[in-house]
Amino acid sequence: MVTLELKRLGQTFANPVVLASGPAGFGLELASLFRWRPMGGLTTKTVTPTPREGNPPPRLVDAPGGALNSIGLVNPGMEAFVAGVLPSVAELPTVRLISFAAPHPEQAEAMADTLGAAPGTDILELNLSCPNVEGRPPAWEAGTTADMVRAAAAATKTPLLAKLSPDVPDIVPVAAAALEAGAAGLTLVNTVRALRIQWDTGLPTLVRTWGGLSGAAILPIALAKVFQARQAFPGVPIVGTGGVMDLGGLLEMVMAGADLVGVGLGVMVDPVLPWRLVESLETWMTQRGFERYEALVGCAHRGGLHVSEQT
Ligand SMILES: Cc1cc2nc3c(=O)[nH]c(=O)nc-3n(C[C@H](O)[C@H](O)[C@H](O)COP(=O)(O)O)c2cc1C
Repeated sequence: MVTLELKRLGQTFANPVVLASGPAGFGLELASLFRWRPMGGLTTKTVTPTPREGNPPPRLVDAPGGALNSIGLVNPGMEAFVAGVLPSVAELPTVRLISFAAPHPEQAEAMADTLGAAPGTDILELNLSCPNVEGRPPAWEAGTTADMVRAAAAATKTPLLAKLSPDVPDIVPVAAAALEAGAAGLTLVNTVRALRIQWDTGLPTLVRTWGGLSGAAILPIALAKVFQARQAFPGVPIVGTGGVMDLGGLLEMVMAGADLVGVGLGVMVDPVLPWRLVESLETWMTQRGFERYEALVGCAHRGGLHVSEQT
């Protein structure tokens, strides 16, 4: 009997697949799927201290092997989320990771306090890495990452994930800063800052010039960051996110060291994909004779599959 269940961050996940923040919104349109089959977790769309209308269109453009988005953290603001959305999210039968972002540490602290105590929150995810809003993402530097995480983590007992950016030459110092400041785990990674030019006008396609690239195109980048972080922090929970669109991508992410695997753009391409991935993983493990999912996590660091526990 294959078991995909795993305990991390004080929660029991039915399986390692987690809907990444953004593409699934607040998860409510997918409620029937959550009730159809267990899903590891749902990360809600990032909320901010006050409502945001987002960036001017176009907000999503295609790219080879993926898409570039410039959504700009559209959300109703924390107060409206807690009062009007979170009570419905709380009814979904899955682990709920509540994503939030703030421009300053004081606001991150206040948000962590409110969101961490709100019924329905199982885990908090501090988004330090959105490339589509004003200012530099905090996760581009270890110092700003530490300031934000320290403020948020001090305000809550709810486990806090730090969601980091792939746009750094070395993820380890930034991840170390987040963990030393109180993060209980890491979500790696957000979108990759990227550009498209409209060749008939000669101008950037997106109004804000830059967008965030996601989808299969970024899988190798996300794998590299997860691999490096797993090597540096053997016991730290990691949600590996970026480019997982099929079973192969999911397996690579797990073998690189992800405990949990986030699916972002994949759910926009096919809303049932995360559920199919769970089924495919179970079938693959059965065929290969693996009983425990955890035996696969990080096996690339331990001599590969042939020396992993096979029962
Ligand atoms: C349309 C869209 C909206 C997103 N919104 C958010 C967001 O609100 N907060 C966040 O932390 N990440 C957001 N992301 C990033 C994803 O959570 C994920 O980290 C990234 O897309 C890489 O994973 P993927 O290749 O599976 O999409 C968004 C991505 C997309 C495509």
